[in-house]
Amino acid sequence: MIFPTLLALHSLVRWLVLISLIFILFTSIFGLSSKQPFTQKHNWLRMIAVSIAHLQLILGIWLYSISPLIQYFWQNFGEAVHERFPRFFGMEHSLVMTIAVVLITIGSAKAKRKTTDLEKHKTLLIWMGIALFLILTSIPWSFSPLTSRPLFRSF
Ligand code: HEM
Repeated sequence: MIFPTLLALHSLVRWLVLISLIFILFTSIFGLSSKQPFTQKHNWLRMIAVSIAHLQLILGIWLYSISPLIQYFWQNFGEAVHERFPRFFGMEHSLVMTIAVVLITIGSAKAKRKTTDLEKHKTLLIWMGIALFLILTSIPWSFSPLTSRPLFRSF
């Protein structure tokens, strides 16, 4: 019972991760181009994006520890490492997404410590931009012929 619920939650939180990062990119680009101050709103957005990313990381690690697919992957590593689907979730997805969350965390901490508003916008733009790119390439999109999963999974 817990596995399908976690999987549906992990699938849903993916959209929150994407929306929060896209919002940050837009506000930093706008902030940089029109030399806007880094306001309390920008700061809130930064903290919300990091919290959502950490929530997704926790859900992902939890899923990883109970998923039958991951159990199959590690119990049959020799053959499973050559199978697209188990290898994607057992290694590629989990590793790249963990790196992306680390980048979000570092970028957020660096932006917080910068002294000028423009530097804050620029730091967020670079770190969150790279993280978003990694996340977009590692989501099992429904249109992917290799690792297709639904865009919305019901609870
Ligand atoms: C920003 C971070 C992440 C995003 C956007 C994301 C997104 C997704 C999506 C969309 C799915 C498919 C869900 C479905 O089948 O409906 C999925 C599956 C999965 N994710 Fe993530 N994920 C992230 C991070 C992680 C991390 C850090 C881990 C592990 C350390 C992880 C482990 C898994 C596992 C094990 C599955 C599949 C489980 C199974 O089908 O047996 N994810 N993820």
